[in-house]
Amino acid sequence: MPIIDSADGSHTILSEVYGVTYHSRHGAITETAHVFIQMGLHWKAQEKNEISVLEVGLGTGLNAFMSMLEAERQGWVIHYQSLETHPVTVEQAAGLNYPDMLQTPERASEFIQMHQLEWNRPHKLSEHFILEKTLLPLQDFQPERTYDVIFFDAFAPQAQPEMWEESIFEKLAKALKPGGGLVTYCAQGEFRRRLRRAGFTTERLPGPPGKREMTRAFI
Ligand SMILES: C[S@@+](CC[C@H](N)C(=O)[O-])C[C@H]1O[C@@H](n2cnc3c(N)ncnc32)[C@H](O)[C@@H]1O
Repeated sequence: MPIIDSADGSHTILSEVYGVTYHSRHGAITETAHVFIQMGLHWKAQEKNEISVLEVGLGTGLNAFMSMLEAERQGWVIHYQSLETHPVTVEQAAGLNYPDMLQTPERASEFIQMHQLEWNRPHKLSEHFILEKTLLPLQDFQPERTYDVIFFDAFAPQAQPEMWEESIFEKLAKALKPGGGLVTYCAQGEFRRRLRRAGFTTERLPGPPGKREMTRAFI
């Protein structure tokens, strides 16, 4: 799959299966920093500093890597579980410029190591970050615990509509701890109605560059 530059200079990947990029073309790192780190982790960190995250779509590992760096900076402990069906190869991960763009070139081997970790068991990568990669489609995933924050980072509804069905959000609502929240770059009306029917309260928040709004939904 081709690697392309997004507007902030950070890479993204073009999915040949779905015909869409893994991140916003207006800036991959900028999108992750805003939607997931700021509106997800920092929001939850107002009340606790040990945070459990469920991510839908590990992809390039950018969200996971930036979460690890932020946990270290802020002194948080993050338990991060991420679902994936079509893993990015180690060779592809090695071609991504995230460690350099994030001013952490010395962490490049850790970024690549994330992609080499054995699936389906937790790995303590530091005092601040435990990563569990789960090789399973979201549709088959039966949560065994509950989470503080869900990073809903599936491909867009037009590209992969089966990820955005109401039954998915009913399942994810049950997977959140009380007061937990789901964050995503998507702000489409029909998506937000499905969230509400599944029991969420939805919030419109300013989006990252190139998107007027994003969504946070909580229980
Ligand atoms: C928008 S990309 C995720 C980007 C990623 N969060 C990152 O930081 O690079 C969507 C991801 O969802 C994965 N995916 C596709 N179908 C899935 C499914 N049924 N369950 C879980 N993940 C799926 C894709 O392979 C892809 O890696």
